[in-house]
Amino acid sequence: MKSPPPSFSSSSPKRKPLSACLITLSFILFIAFLYGEDFACVIRRPILDSEIQDYSASNEKDELPAAVPFSVDRGKRDCDLFEGEWIYDEEGRPQYEEEECPYIQPQLTCQSHGRPDSAYQHLRWQPRRCYLPSFNASLMLEKLRGKRMMYVGDSLNRGQFVSMICLLHRIIPESAKSMETFDSLTVFRVKDYNATIEFYWAPFLVESNSDNAVIHRVSDRIVRARSINKHARHWKGADIIVFNTYLWWMTGQKMKILRGSFDSDTKNIVEMETEDAYKLALRRAVKWVEKNMNPNKTRVFFTSMSPSHEMSAGWGGEPDGNCYNETTPIKDLNYWGRSTSKGIMRATQEVFERSKAPITLINITQLSEYRKDAHTSIYKKQWSPLTKEQLANPRSYADCVHWCLPGLQDTWNELLYAKLFFP
Ligand SMILES: *[C@@H]1O[C@H](CO)[C@@H](O)[C@H](O)[C@H]1NC(C)=O
Ligand SMILES: *[C@@H]1O[C@H](CO)[C@@H](O)[C@H](O)[C@H]1NC(C)=O
Ligand SMILES: *[C@@H]1O[C@H](CO)[C@@H](O)[C@H](O)[C@H]1NC(C)=O
Ligand SMILES: *[C@@H]1O[C@H](CO)[C@@H](O)[C@H](O)[C@H]1NC(C)=O
Ligand SMILES: *[C@@H]1O[C@H](CO)[C@@H](O)[C@H](O)[C@H]1NC(C)=O
Repeated sequence: MKSPPPSFSSSSPKRKPLSACLITLSFILFIAFLYGEDFACVIRRPILDSEIQDYSASNEKDELPAAVPFSVDRGKRDCDLFEGEWIYDEEGRPQYEEEECPYIQPQLTCQSHGRPDSAYQHLRWQPRRCYLPSFNASLMLEKLRGKRMMYVGDSLNRGQFVSMICLLHRIIPESAKSMETFDSLTVFRVKDYNATIEFYWAPFLVESNSDNAVIHRVSDRIVRARSINKHARHWKGADIIVFNTYLWWMTGQKMKILRGSFDSDTKNIVEMETEDAYKLALRRAVKWVEKNMNPNKTRVFFTSMSPSHEMSAGWGGEPDGNCYNETTPIKDLNYWGRSTSKGIMRATQEVFERSKAPITLINITQLSEYRKDAHTSIYKKQWSPLTKEQLANPRSYADCVHWCLPGLQDTWNELLYAKLFFP
């Protein structure tokens, strides 16, 4: 009785998949060689100028989608604006000087608070496959004639609001502009254009116990996740709305949801996982948009999570450091901060996928993750005087949440500009 050696019989069926695999592999390599760009997700290499197209020049003009309000060009664009890298651009950035824009709040004016470096102002966002259209302040103002543009959200959105004003204010004569604050609402008015750019403080979008625009540092945060009209009645009639909400949800604990009113004596409070509470609130905001914003005349945007840089170990820095003393962006294109919630990103995606209203996501999270250098750190007006202990250890009071202006948030507005006019 002779049986074939086990090694032989077992190698035979293996040989086929191996050779098949080799053929497949060489085929993949051949295709990869032909269509290098399509494998950019697998093999990262520097962006070549010859591969980059002008985002504002669309192709396939014959396949125009339905008219989008405010757009100056319609067409198919094959470029993910949010994937790319930061390029040092000495001449092109910043688009305005810190001391030239009087609207920047002292919490964001880093140079005048002693920041020694300025490279963070000279970085330009370069998407992988296209150039961002350059921000044209005249066009922006022209399009805002007789309109209301509104930013709604937290202090990060306030930063983006101020950035937009700084990008525009140079071409508006002194006598034709004004800025006023009424409680939660700040209004920048451009008289000749009968236009306003406004900011409305609503850190959770829905009603909460942190709604006071000045005194809102509440440690025990409570939201009414289904209640939005107290705020939203101020948004009616806006032509462009830019929402954000994220940081205030990140308490590290379950979220407290109030059923009923803040004024009633007996408070019915339930605790909920942060993502679930976030979804409730975001759905409520989307429902409001569906009911109140006419998609034929208005545009709605949502700015995704703004990342913080509290732990330098995450990007290979010192074990106990944070954004303090950081002067260059993170080079690792896959970097994602440990404190940036993937759950909230998923929740955002899920809610917007089901939205009946067109809401454009400005997905600034990944590109801002790289910018550990762009925070205000210790170079800002402090809320209260610093103690001796704090002064001895600057890291302990560095703000690694907010961003210097000019800086990163100008790019958020460039992306908004691109999505507004070249949808
Ligand atoms: C900016 O927009 C204005 C108004 O639409 C236009 O006249 C001007 O040519 C644009 N400037 C540039 C540099 O494209
Ligand atoms: C100014 O703009 C508002 C909308 O923001 C509009 O209701 C009003 O009629 C405009 N006024 C003039 C004089 O154009
Ligand atoms: C938007 O325009 C479309 C097509 O003109 C029309 O059918 C629709 O009723 C309009 N929607 C609103 C809310 O006005
Ligand atoms: C800041 O960084 C520089 C080098 O990047 C280093 O020499 C210096 O010690 C750092 N300062 C502090 C206070 O960490
Ligand atoms: C935003 O971009 C990141 C990566 O850049 C991605 O993981 C995430 O899913 C995007 N978010 C949404 C809501 O599409």
